[in-house]
Amino acid sequence: MKGVIMDNIAIDGPAGAGKSTIARLAAGKLGFIYVDTGAMYRAMALYFIRNGIDTEDESAVSAACEDINISIEYKDGKQEVILNGENVNAFIRTEKVSLVTSDISKYVSVRAKLLGLQRSIAATKNIIMDGRDIGTCVLPDAKTKIYLTASADERARRRYKEQKEKGISCDLEKIKQDIIKRDEQDMNRKTAPLKQAEDAVFLDTSDLSVKEAVNAVINIYRTKET
Ligand code: DC
Repeated sequence: MKGVIMDNIAIDGPAGAGKSTIARLAAGKLGFIYVDTGAMYRAMALYFIRNGIDTEDESAVSAACEDINISIEYKDGKQEVILNGENVNAFIRTEKVSLVTSDISKYVSVRAKLLGLQRSIAATKNIIMDGRDIGTCVLPDAKTKIYLTASADERARRRYKEQKEKGISCDLEKIKQDIIKRDEQDMNRKTAPLKQAEDAVFLDTSDLSVKEAVNAVINIYRTKET
């Protein structure tokens, strides 16, 4: 595939903005593969938690990175994250894993571990990849870049509703505070912070339905295509 430029769409934005849902549905409509990079960082955080690695200690985290192997597979069109041979999709969505992931994603060693994997996936397929640094760092040449966001209140409400629907008891204010904390960490870290790429289109989904947001993403892609 050398020399072929793939038709990639990079979507970045803060926690809970609906990136995954919107990107997955848009990918389905366009016949693209959806790549969730947050899940890869989450799998790394899960490893550190399970193995009692002190995530405040950068050298301990960097040393542990040597023992981690992450890959992804697709089963019935759904991305599965494989951590050292184990499918860990069922374990990476807890609030604890969310917060630890935000903590450890500031380390260069953690990011370096995943960058090659993310770029190699994007080099061979048409993909929609979402995360925090896709347009700015992972795929700076992506033709379509979108910065997808929503107000913190709306993001908290959506997460609350999602958790309730899964039967998980939760507190709206606590969810909002966790979201604000993750925004703070993700936007202010030194390495690959969350920010809008200069050539990204800003898309605020606070007042959009999922369907409207998916259509907006597809329309942005179509305008870039011509
Ligand atoms: O998208 P998510 O909520 O699953 O991401 C979890 C955390 O992973 C997020 O708080 C920051 C980190 N992350 C990152 O630093 N870079 C990415 N490309 C994706 C996620």
